[in-house]
Amino acid sequence: MLDAAYNRSQTVETDQGKAAGTEAAPIIEIDDLAKRFGSKEVLTGLRLSIRRGETICIIGESGTGKSVTLKHIVGLLRPDRGTVRIGGVDIFAADGQLQEIRKKIGFLFQGAALLNSMTVFDNVALPLREHERPPEAELRKRVLETLELVDMAEAADKMPAELSGGMKKRAGLARAIIRQPEIILYDEPTAGLDPVISSTINDLILNLQEKLGVTSIVVTHDMSSTFRVADRIAMLYQGKIYKSGTPDEFRKSEDPLIRQFIYGESEGPLRRDNH
Ligand SMILES: Nc1ncnc2c1ncn2[C@@H]1O[C@H](COP(=O)(O)OP(=O)(O)OP(=O)(O)O)[C@@H](O)[C@H]1O
Ligand SMILES: [Mg+2]
Repeated sequence: MLDAAYNRSQTVETDQGKAAGTEAAPIIEIDDLAKRFGSKEVLTGLRLSIRRGETICIIGESGTGKSVTLKHIVGLLRPDRGTVRIGGVDIFAADGQLQEIRKKIGFLFQGAALLNSMTVFDNVALPLREHERPPEAELRKRVLETLELVDMAEAADKMPAELSGGMKKRAGLARAIIRQPEIILYDEPTAGLDPVISSTINDLILNLQEKLGVTSIVVTHDMSSTFRVADRIAMLYQGKIYKSGTPDEFRKSEDPLIRQFIYGESEGPLRRDNH
């Protein structure tokens, strides 16, 4: 009896493709995603399912297509082939629904992507003004509370040009979470931040998951952040998910490619492929 249950759970853990039908439907399902820019094939048939409420970290070398993958999930890029389903809806097939689905998603862009002509306050208020139009007093309260969360309340009236890289990142994060989205995509949330601010951001990612049940995809090079926040890790390599598994599975992996990436070794298959 116990053995049978154990075997079943093993199957669920290790063979997500087949197990998908036996579990609650994933909130995000990416199937056979392919994208090329000119002659450069970036994604070559990427498959990934993400369960509601989980935090998955996507890791991989620079230039492998991590940001490109996130941009497909919010519909900012259209694939050459393949599908992205969110809550069961194919976001590219259903023209009218992409806007609706996008509202459920918060996106922290890799470079923060603040509008330079607006203050931090107005940047963070933008999604509220566009989609909800709450009374000014409520808007003010929500923006300041969200800025407080990322320790940026004092910078509310500053212009983006006056901010450090870390402050821009935190302002971008405030804008991504202001509407309490169901899904948050973080593109390098801790890159370029000092360790204290990085750990505040990691805590915030965990808090949003615990308190609001948010589903998160975190693209990162930062292995300490990955091991702190991830329920699952997926490694992108040559346009596909090379391996997905628990942080523990990654830590213990004997696979040279994975070891080289997570332990930052200079010798190994990654280096050879780049030559
Ligand atoms: N809009 C675009 N037009 C042309 N090429 C693009 C475009 N967006 C991305 N690329 C190319 O696709 C490849 C993957 O880019 P992507 O930004 O996804 O990499 P990444 O994995 O996020 O890297 P990094 O870790 O450095 O952020 C790169 O070669 C990049 O130059
Ligand atoms: Mg990137």
